[in-house]
Amino acid sequence: MARLIAVSIDCRNEEVRRMFEDMVSRRLHYLIAKGQGTGAVDMLLLELDEFRPQHTFDRIRQLLSAAPGLEIFLTASRMDPQLLLEAFRVGVKEFLPQPLTRQDVEPALVRFEERFAGKTSGLEMHAGKVIAVLGVRGGVGASTVATNLAVSVQQARHHEPVALIDLDVHGGDLGLFLDLPASQGLTHLTKDISRLDETILRSTLVRHPSGLQFLASGCEAYDDFTFEPGSMMRVMSLLRSIHRHVFIDCGHVLNHSVREVLDSADQVILVTTLSLPMIRRTKRLLEILFAAHYPAAKIALVVNRYQKDQKDLVTETETLLGFPMAGLIPNDYESASEAINHGKPLTIMASKSPIAQWYLQGVGQLIGDHAAGAALSKGQAKGRSFLGRCFSSIGMEVGSKPSVVSR
Ligand SMILES: Nc1ncnc2c1ncn2[C@@H]1O[C@H](COP(=O)(O)OP(=O)(O)OP(=O)(O)O)[C@@H](O)[C@H]1O
Ligand SMILES: [Mg+2]
Repeated sequence: MARLIAVSIDCRNEEVRRMFEDMVSRRLHYLIAKGQGTGAVDMLLLELDEFRPQHTFDRIRQLLSAAPGLEIFLTASRMDPQLLLEAFRVGVKEFLPQPLTRQDVEPALVRFEERFAGKTSGLEMHAGKVIAVLGVRGGVGASTVATNLAVSVQQARHHEPVALIDLDVHGGDLGLFLDLPASQGLTHLTKDISRLDETILRSTLVRHPSGLQFLASGCEAYDDFTFEPGSMMRVMSLLRSIHRHVFIDCGHVLNHSVREVLDSADQVILVTTLSLPMIRRTKRLLEILFAAHYPAAKIALVVNRYQKDQKDLVTETETLLGFPMAGLIPNDYESASEAINHGKPLTIMASKSPIAQWYLQGVGQLIGDHAAGAALSKGQAKGRSFLGRCFSSIGMEVGSKPSVVSR
């Protein structure tokens, strides 16, 4: 399932609510929305007002005319056949008699999931691409990469909606990089995830002069903030439904929100540099991603601050990681820092510089087909290189020489 199923429960009977919550949360991919909002939920469990059934049916009609994709499960302690027929006529999809039992609820959930999968697979064909950018450590340049890739795509495709999201909960800086206000953002959207809808999302996005839509993290430096589990998947699915490309600066910490984003992303760009500690961390990070069954084609590894005399080191690192570099971003501290200080992307501020040219020309290949992140065959390195010696001394194995390298 590509995204979470948001469920809302509107039920006076506490026992029924508790049972349903329990059965739903045992299944994967569900998110129980707080409150009774139906803003962006996929399914609503609604209790029939047995004294005023017409009142409930009117409500169902209103709900379905506002949100035709919503599925309503009706529950009641008793139901005569005439009322049941009427319930299905107004659009109820499942009826669950009280007290709830697993025998009734589970098959109803399975049927719902089949219908849901059918609906979303059609939508996903038109959904935008999510590209997550993750630094192997703080300061490697993840924010610079995310910002400049997003702006490059927007510059190349003026008419396509592109978004850039700051998911650095430790005080993201992207507002400064783009000279845009960053007071509201993800924290605002996820306050009550059940109420999140396209209108709220659009009113929180801030437009950059390039046309790019920006969403800040909303977190201050030194805040100790975490997003509710499931909320990032929800935000991502809404973002990708209205943008062609969604870039996310994930910072460098693998917390649960970042993992949710990585899971739902189409591509993960890992940013590293060619120092020994970074290479070691990169190796570990790749191991973690492969252990989580990420396909190699989903991952693109880029070296930031690449210097011309590091050619051999790149080859050696690729051999050691058993993974090719998808890009080598030239080292240019002056241009990179000046761009940040002026609140302008490199591709606008210093568009002729080699570093800006790398972004403008390299982005298509990097986020395009899967060529950039092709996997390498595993095996042992033939020679004992400098890096090989260092890594064997810290208990890491060296992979085989890469056969595919695209930059
Ligand atoms: N290609 C480059 N060449 C030289 N310096 C660079 C390059 N890319 C980024 N920098 C510089 O590296 C520093 C860190 O960049 P950036 O803020 O993008 O990293 P980060 O990984 O997001 O850091 P943080 O962990 O603080 O969020 C900045 O001063 C930036 O100007
Ligand atoms: Mg950053």
